Amino acid sequence: MILQQKRRKRPQPFIIKDKYFHKAKKEGFRARSVFKLEEIQKTFELIHPQMKVCDIGAAPWSFMQFIKRIIKEWGLLIGIDIKKIDIIWWKNIYTLVHNIFEYDTLKPKIREILWSEEKFDVITSDIAPNTTGRKDIDQYASVELNIEILKFGDEFLKKWWNLLLKVFKWEDFSDLTKEIKKRFERFIEYKPLACRDRSFEEYVICINKKD
Ligand SMILES: C[S@@+](CC[C@H](N)C(=O)[O-])C[C@H]1O[C@@H](n2cnc3c(N)ncnc32)[C@H](O)[C@@H]1O
Repeated sequence: MILQQKRRKRPQPFIIKDKYFHKAKKEGFRARSVFKLEEIQKTFELIHPQMKVCDIGAAPWSFMQFIKRIIKEWGLLIGIDIKKIDIIWWKNIYTLVHNIFEYDTLKPKIREILWSEEKFDVITSDIAPNTTGRKDIDQYASVELNIEILKFGDEFLKKWWNLLLKVFKWEDFSDLTKEIKKRFERFIEYKPLACRDRSFEEYVICINKKD
C-alpha cells in the first residue's frame, strides 16, 4: 500500500488581524502601519502639501499611500526598500529597491531624481530589521539601521526640517539618541495607539535639523 505523504504547510508570516488591519483593508491601505503615521501626522503635522518627502523602509507602501494624499501632484515622494516594488504611480512618485546600508550606490540614484543640490523637506522611516525574538539583539539591529538613516539625512534633509524614525526600544538606547542630539535641536519619543501594547516599537520625531 502506498501511503500518501501529508503536504506540509509553509509557515506563514504572522499577521495581526485587529481593528486596524480591517480598517486598512476597508480603506484600501496596504498595511495597518498607516494608522501609526496618521496619528503622528495629526499630532505633529510633519507633512504638508507640495513637500519633497523620502520614505525609508517603505514596503508594502501604506505610508506612501498616505503621504501621497497629502503632498498631492505638486510634491515629490521617493520610497526606498530592500524589497521589490510592485507599484506603478504618477510621475512625482518614485520607488527604489535598495539596501539603506549601501549608501554609495543609493546616493547617485537619489541625485538622479532630485534636482542638483535639492534636499527633502521631511524624511520618514518605518524601517525594521528581521526580528530574532531576542529583544536586545533586535534593538541593536534597529539602532544600526536608524543611525544609517541619520547619515542619509546629513546629506539629503534640509536644514531646520524634521525626520521620523521608528526604533525597537527595549533598554537604554543612548547609542541612537547621542547621534540624534548631534544633528537635531530636540526629539520626542511617541507611541501611536496602533502600536500593539506588547510591541517594543516606538517612533522618534527628530525636530529641526541643525546643519
Ligand atoms: C514595517 S515595514 C514598513 C511598512 C511600511 N511603512 C508601510 O507602511 O507599508 C519595514 C520595512 O523595512 C524594510 N527594510 C529592512 N531593512 C532594510 C534595509 N537595510 N534597507 C531598506 N529597507 C529595509 C523591510 O524590507 C520592510 O519592508
